[in-house]
Amino acid sequence: MTELNVAIIGHQFMGKAHSNAWRQAQTFFDLPAKPVLKVACGRREEPLKAFAENWGWEETETDWRKVVERDDVDIVDVAVPQNLHHDVAVAAAKAGKHVFLEKPMSLSLAEAEEMLSVAEAAGVVHYLNHNYRRTPAVRLARQLIDEGEIGRIFHWRGAYLQDWISDPSFPLTWHLQADKAGSGPHGDLNSHSIDLARYLVGEIDSVCAMTRTFIEERPLPSEGAATFKGGTSGTETGKVTVEDAAFMLASFANGALGSFEASRFATGRKNYNTFEIYGSNGALLFNLERMNELEFLSKKDGDGRQGFRTILATEASHDYIANWWPPGHIIGYEHEFVHAVVDFVDAVANKTAIAPNFADGVAEMRIIAAGLESAATGQRVTV
Ligand SMILES: NC(=O)c1ccc[n+]([C@@H]2O[C@H](COP(=O)([O-])OP(=O)(O)OC[C@H]3O[C@@H](n4cnc5c(N)ncnc54)[C@H](O)[C@@H]3O)[C@@H](O)[C@H]2O)c1
Repeated sequence: MTELNVAIIGHQFMGKAHSNAWRQAQTFFDLPAKPVLKVACGRREEPLKAFAENWGWEETETDWRKVVERDDVDIVDVAVPQNLHHDVAVAAAKAGKHVFLEKPMSLSLAEAEEMLSVAEAAGVVHYLNHNYRRTPAVRLARQLIDEGEIGRIFHWRGAYLQDWISDPSFPLTWHLQADKAGSGPHGDLNSHSIDLARYLVGEIDSVCAMTRTFIEERPLPSEGAATFKGGTSGTETGKVTVEDAAFMLASFANGALGSFEASRFATGRKNYNTFEIYGSNGALLFNLERMNELEFLSKKDGDGRQGFRTILATEASHDYIANWWPPGHIIGYEHEFVHAVVDFVDAVANKTAIAPNFADGVAEMRIIAAGLESAATGQRVTV
């Protein structure tokens, strides 16, 4: 069987999620090629070596430029903060490597546009990891919409709410610095909701947004502290340069009206990634924290008999499920990443495209940029 050598850049949160996916995809699915965990890259040798040993990466390297230039690397998996996405993805594509990139795509729309044109010119497979598209319950939502079960869509209501930085003593990690993250929850969380809205409802043509930063100054993080554990270095502080919450209204080209809420200050909410879709024939509700379920109301049920039914999307007929467990034996967060790897390897082996890709990323960055512009100017902005 053909082998595909993978290099991963970044070895913390997404580094783990992706490593698990590269391994599990080949054990649970029949892949057309075998991913080989060739080389892992990070800045600090010690934790990198421990990571590589734990997850089965053959080699380590601390300079990402050396990694993307290696002749024996076929795929570059970009699992680092946004300030590196452009440089790594462009260098990798120019070197002829297929690129598996974390979201949000880049720091700016201009960077995203360049990444797309380089990847297209190089003829490599490019993928932007909005893993939630590959949740079986979300795929079922798309199927019901395609079959007309919801009818004409009137409303998208997306909310992606977390609370992990609501404590003012939480340190100034890269997520809170505009030069490393681009933006706050608007880019981080709304990007996922925007991707789902584009996948399920359609293109957005104008937006109107408000953002707010509640805590302006935070302690500096200690060197090497794990992102979500929040170790601090002492008494030194630094300025928060991104928003803490971003709320956006959106008009869709097909006439639907939508709302997007993204916050890291929604006390009690952990990874509350939800959407509601209301149409002329029915409605759909999804909540990631109950990710095996899709709620569906159908007007076909007739007067006086309608109500939301909960579909457990764990039948073999639901996308990806036949390769996992029998019905009712639920799947979790990490499975979405496995599904992404399965489809990515298929695209590489069969020389086809995968979605979402860098073109979707550019469309999404346009919406993100329009939202930030609207928040800054107080005006509605055409996308
Ligand atoms: N798809 C999702 O649901 C999801 C979830 C979380 C994060 N993300 C995205 O994944 C990316 C990484 O986020 P994370 O949460 O894993 O961050 P993290 O802070 O947990 O890890 C970042 C990694 O980048 C490495 N790194 C930083 N600078 C480097 C450099 N110059 N050379 C090599 N390695 C370097 C660090 O060593 C670390 O291993 C971000 O773009 C983020 O938005 C996506």
